[in-house]
Amino acid sequence: MANAKPLKLIEISKRYKHITPVPRMPNFAAWIEGVDLTQPLSVAVKKELRQALFDFEVIFFKPQKITPQQHIELAKVFGPISSGSYFERKADAPEIELIMNDKKRPPKIDNWHTDISWKDHPPLGTAIQITVTPPAGGNTCWISTSKAFEWLSPGMQKYLEGLSAVHTWEIASFRDSLAAKGDEALFAALKAYKPVTHPVIRKNPDSGRKCIYVNTGFTKKIIGVDRHEADGILAFLFDWFKKPEFMVHHQWEAGGIAIWDNRSTQHYALADYWPHDRVNQRVTFDDSRTPSKEGRAKKKALAGK
Ligand SMILES: [Fe+2]
Repeated sequence: MANAKPLKLIEISKRYKHITPVPRMPNFAAWIEGVDLTQPLSVAVKKELRQALFDFEVIFFKPQKITPQQHIELAKVFGPISSGSYFERKADAPEIELIMNDKKRPPKIDNWHTDISWKDHPPLGTAIQITVTPPAGGNTCWISTSKAFEWLSPGMQKYLEGLSAVHTWEIASFRDSLAAKGDEALFAALKAYKPVTHPVIRKNPDSGRKCIYVNTGFTKKIIGVDRHEADGILAFLFDWFKKPEFMVHHQWEAGGIAIWDNRSTQHYALADYWPHDRVNQRVTFDDSRTPSKEGRAKKKALAGK
């Protein structure tokens, strides 16, 4: 028997006047129609795009021939451009990270994760365009972590709300990539990016929805409970996330675009197309409310007084 709450659908015609979201799942994952991304976007359209991201958590556009600058401008609709991750950068537009996979570079991100949850302030979201698609496969899946929370029993919700978990890149494949570069690179990263703690349940400040915030990519342990209990809870949640009701499975067309809210979703890039080519161009954006690096250093210094 499901614990599902009665479904109350978002009233699209009342809420949206300038764009047309077409949901692929109930209140999750929507195509966006009626927006030409090759033209400057009006303030009203930008506002509704932000609303759609918060309402549906991942939004999709059919293929559009956007320039690198238009890709960057699209990401800026949702927040300031983030420092991103360790991926290669596009030479003429360093805001764009490239994930290029081919015979010599097999795909490596076939695991469920939230981007960069190993930082205190992970990015708000990412806008990706798959510019080269393989002849078959190479889909991306997203899960709604707010839906995964909503469907839990009240007792389990309450229990999880009292917990925190440790997140670190050290349990991901980054560690092996860095170690391959030598001890110095690994030690520098270990020093620069120490493990961080996040609540197991976080409220998305823009949608107001509570979300489960642990992922197989970067969550190492739950704090304050016996290791066996913690491992059991994490194993249960990682399995729970995989309920098809929480998931959208997206098949790409070359030039298609997806934007996700990194606070309310996890994603998984299927690696079933190798050794064929696939090119992913991505721009990651932060929450404009995130304190700057200087602000954080100041806060830390004051806390230490
Ligand atoms: Fe990712």
